[in-house]
Amino acid sequence: MSEHSSIHLQHIILIGFMGCGKSTIGRELHQKLGIPLIDTDEAIEHKCGKSISNIFAESGEETFRDLETEYLRDCLTNLTSSSIISTGGGIILREENREILKRLGYVVWLKIDAINVYQRTKKNRSRPILQQPNPKKVIADLIELRSPYYRETANLTINISGLDRYEITTGIIESARYHYSQQAQ
Ligand code: S3P
Repeated sequence: MSEHSSIHLQHIILIGFMGCGKSTIGRELHQKLGIPLIDTDEAIEHKCGKSISNIFAESGEETFRDLETEYLRDCLTNLTSSSIISTGGGIILREENREILKRLGYVVWLKIDAINVYQRTKKNRSRPILQQPNPKKVIADLIELRSPYYRETANLTINISGLDRYEITTGIIESARYHYSQQAQ
């Protein structure tokens, strides 16, 4: 695996549970900073020519997780400009992925609680993991299981409750600048 990308590139990577606003905050950061926005789910859908739901239905979750790992490896070797990288909520499940995310750059966890996730995702049918009889319990259990992984991977944790987009993006930009300025010394 190449070491070069994490040395001179200044990526900002967004992680967090489904519905925490990674895509929205990613777009906002993209507009404010004028650097490319990469969305791992969209990249996988584009590569496979299928929706995430179809990948899960036809090939299963493990195949989707393999595609995530493959895509992250590509990012590490092929990205040539500093980017915002918005990720799928389960990307932190594999140790290799967590290592790659850390090597890619500044990782921000947008932390959200189970009640808010439920409110934000209940009408959306595009997330196969939540298409279950008791989504509230599934959400609570998965947040509990995944939180240590998000925590372990992130340089910065932002508890998004009570914050608007402006506050979140400003916090991320200032913290990332500080982080990269300290690295340069
Ligand atoms: C998943 C989250 C989704 C998507 C897939 C699996 C998960 O991304 O990658 O449906 O396991 O949490 P979002 O977090 O963008 O919804």
